[in-house]
Amino acid sequence: MSHLFEAIDFEENPIYEQIIADIGKQQYSIVEGFFAQEEVHLLRQMLQQRHEEDAFKKAAIGNRVNELIVKSIRGDLILWMDETNANSTEKLFFNKVNDLIAYLNRTCFLGILSKEFHYAIYPEGTFYKRHIDTFQNDDRRKLSFVCYLNEDGWLPENGGELVLYFDENRREVEKVIYPFPGRIVIFESQIIEHEVRPVKTERLSITGWLKTR
Ligand code: OGA
Ligand code: MN
Repeated sequence: MSHLFEAIDFEENPIYEQIIADIGKQQYSIVEGFFAQEEVHLLRQMLQQRHEEDAFKKAAIGNRVNELIVKSIRGDLILWMDETNANSTEKLFFNKVNDLIAYLNRTCFLGILSKEFHYAIYPEGTFYKRHIDTFQNDDRRKLSFVCYLNEDGWLPENGGELVLYFDENRREVEKVIYPFPGRIVIFESQIIEHEVRPVKTERLSITGWLKTR
């Protein structure tokens, strides 16, 4: 019975449909203005506030159990977000993410059961070498989600491009993506190798994963 109501209530969302189509076709999707200018502003303030609270620690390679500081691979500072203790700005973020997850689960049967997100600051001169987002002992990460919180007017000269790499039987060998504010990038965690090129101006973002099982 409830299924009937769901079918009737279901409203197609063109942005989500675009994401689904893009991922099906090319394993990644870029959406401009997924977060409005004002939302980006609030999230950036939130990131800076958390940073000032000195909650940041050096980003670690590996999962939270086996943490290792390897600055030659990545130099970003991260802070895991806690949905249960989210303030109003972070709730706004999670509401949008949860809405997307609900849509994906309803339309694609992806079976996203959990998620994890962190704030990230790349200080000047830092980078994240080419890598894949799944761990050897844990392949639950299905989709990677990155949202950029830089100031308006971020310039290509500032560096910090996200570069996605594809295998050779594709026409496109790589995709260079600038971290413009409000933009999100979603890609298949188990397939897409990628890197963050050296940043010349502090680069701010939220990165996370939609996970199965
Ligand atoms: C990561 C990552 C990409 C980006 O944190 O694993 O690849 O554009 N981030 O920040
Ligand atoms: Mn990554």
